[in-house]
Amino acid sequence: MGKKGILHPKITMKNLTSSQVEALKKSLRQLETERLAAEFYETLFKRYPQVKAMFPTDMKELGIKLMSVFELVIYSFEEKSHNQFSLQDTLVRPMQELGKQHEAKGVLPEHYTIANDLLLEILVKQNKNTFTEEVEKSWELALQHLTVAMLSRNKERASATTTDSTLRDTFHSIMKKVIGK
Ligand code: HEM
Repeated sequence: MGKKGILHPKITMKNLTSSQVEALKKSLRQLETERLAAEFYETLFKRYPQVKAMFPTDMKELGIKLMSVFELVIYSFEEKSHNQFSLQDTLVRPMQELGKQHEAKGVLPEHYTIANDLLLEILVKQNKNTFTEEVEKSWELALQHLTVAMLSRNKERASATTTDSTLRDTFHSIMKKVIGK
């Protein structure tokens, strides 16, 4: 596959099926979001203490905001073609804006990979009884869609320049995950 194909989410993004979207909605209803956010940030700071300085001291509100975005994304998946669900077009720009805010706070593209992997790990750990492979896979896809939207401005920059290799590599690795499975 050519570089251009890899870098263009509209062409290469693996979409969700309606049963995956339903699995996500059901899973969301079963989550203890406060406990999830708390363990997520606690583990993040333990394993990657270097990121802690970017965060405020009151993490409770941020946890609520983070979970609200997941909820928004999951309930906004839209059927683009038969049984092919992806992020609603109207959400892409706000998610890009959220991504820009993150960039301004010092969040790097590779932090998204770390955060997504960690989130999945804790989701599975806290929801052993309900997390079937399908539920896990659906979360993984949803987080990838969200991340690609948040980084999509970077992606344009990444495709335009060859000097910013970290950015490009991170985006490629995320896209590879999206396409590869
Ligand atoms: C999965 C994708 C992510 C989502 C949906 C998300 C969501 C959010 C939201 C909604 C806010 C609050 C923005 C506001 O108050 O206006 C926020 C702030 C923030 N996020 Fe994220 N985030 C994500 C990934 C990350 C990653 C990977 C990091 C870094 C490891 C990060 C670090 C931060 C920081 C430092 C703030 C600012 C907190 C503050 O100063 O109040 N986020 N995030």
